[in-house]
This record gives sequence, structure tokens and C-alpha cells, in this order.
Amino acid sequence: MQRQFFNSGSRAISYFDSAPAQRDARVVLLIHAFPLGAAMWEGQVKALPDGWRLIAPDVRGFGGSTIDEPDEEPRIDDYAKDAIDLLRELEIASAVIGGMSMGGYVAMAILRRQPGVATAVILADTRMTPDTPEGRANRRSMLAVVDREGPSGVSRDMLPRLLGKTTLAQRPTVEPLVRRLIKQQSPAALRGAIQRMMERPDSQAVLEQLAVPTLIIVGDEDVITPVEDSRRLQAVIPGSELVVLPETGHLANLERPDLFNDALRALLSRL
Ligand code: MLT
Repeated sequence: MQRQFFNSGSRAISYFDSAPAQRDARVVLLIHAFPLGAAMWEGQVKALPDGWRLIAPDVRGFGGSTIDEPDEEPRIDDYAKDAIDLLRELEIASAVIGGMSMGGYVAMAILRRQPGVATAVILADTRMTPDTPEGRANRRSMLAVVDREGPSGVSRDMLPRLLGKTTLAQRPTVEPLVRRLIKQQSPAALRGAIQRMMERPDSQAVLEQLAVPTLIIVGDEDVITPVEDSRRLQAVIPGSELVVLPETGHLANLERPDLFNDALRALLSRL
């Protein structure tokens, strides 16, 4: 995938595009999880059926995207607005809209802002509910870790929960890959994402109105957004399909790319 750039006001938004020249291809837009960047989606290109194009933006401050300094009144909708602006810039009127975890929160914000843009939806290892008071307290602790130790501290604290127990025990290449993807990020980007996740609203109302094919994917060893969160999503999204990946944690596409890609390909092939 080639990294491309788009300028929005004074900021640059970077994104990976699997087929920039294929303007007539159908598009799947995937938003990355926290605290990784869009490079986490590299392994999904080979899941695309013919005629499909993957576009994966880095949200503000992540990867090659810049961030406003100061980053005032951070809202999850900022990321959604950037993604919608990117699609508009590329003259893409509609796309499959998907995301993992934080990327799922962004996908829900896109659906809230511009419901007509989605031809289908993918929600991987995510949830529709806002942070609980305990979750917000954990976010404040994480902000302190970012200020004290930067991405290395976040990586150390989160890795044991980002990956499933089977991956940690039996798939030795995944942990160094995820650590590398985390350490590329700047403290300002991590701080901005934590603040945005803390402020995100409940998305149940928008999901109840969804009238496009929706694929929900979750790892059965996900401890950050456990299977019950995905079952709740399935219960509110009309006609949605839930795929539970065995022996897989929170970062399902990196832990089990084969199974994740099967589910992605199956969805795209029937659209
Ligand atoms: C993510 O994986 O994007 C985040 O861990 C989600 C969250 O912290 O709510």
C-alpha cells in the first residue's frame, strides 16, 4: 500500500490507498485502533476481491497525519470529519465504512454525521457505549503515562491486554509488530486520542437506524471490548452478522489475519 497525503486547512492527513489509480473501484474505508496507526491494515489488502480498493487514514497526529497545536476541544467527531473530508477529496460518494475498536467509535461517528455514505459497515472489536466512570479514570491514568513515558509506557501497559492469551503464548511475531506500530506514534497523538475516546457519546440510536449490511467481528479472547459488547451491537443493528474468532484477542486482524480476511472477503464478495 502506498502512503498518500491530503491537506485539510493547515493539517496533513496521511492515508494508505491500495489502488490510487483505480477510480472506478469500490472502496472500503478502515479506521485503525488505538494506539496504532493505519499501517495495521496492511495485511487486509490481500483480502480484497477484484474491483475493491482499501483506503485507511491515520487519524490526527497518528502515522503521517499532523495534529493542531494546541489540540483544542478534542472530539471523536474530529476524526470522523477528517475521514469524510478525505472521501470527498477523492470524489468517493459512498464506501464500506469500518473500524477496529477506537476506529469503530470513529465509524459510528461517521454514520452519525453522514448516514448515507455507508454501503455496508464493519465493526471489529468495538462497542457502542461511552466510557464508564471507571473507564474515564483509567483514561486519566493513561494520560499520565503518556506525559511521563510517552508511547513506550503505553505500549508496556496495553500490550498484555491488546493481544489475546493465545497470541501472547504462541504467536511470537505479533507482539514485536504491535510494539513497533505503537512506538511510531507521538505523545500528542496518543493524548488527543485518549481525550477523544473519553468524550465519545453513546451510539445506540444511530446503530438502531442502520439499514445496510453490517459485519461485527470480535476475538473470543478480547479483554478490552469483550464478546458481550459485540453481542450488544448485534442485538441493536438490524440484520447484522456476528463473527467470533477463536483464540483471538483485541487486535483480531493482526492476530488472525487469515480468519479476519475470510470474514472481510465474504462480506465484500456479496455486496
Ligand atoms: C482501541 O483498541 O482502539 C482502544 O483500546 C479502545 C479503547 O480504549 O476504548
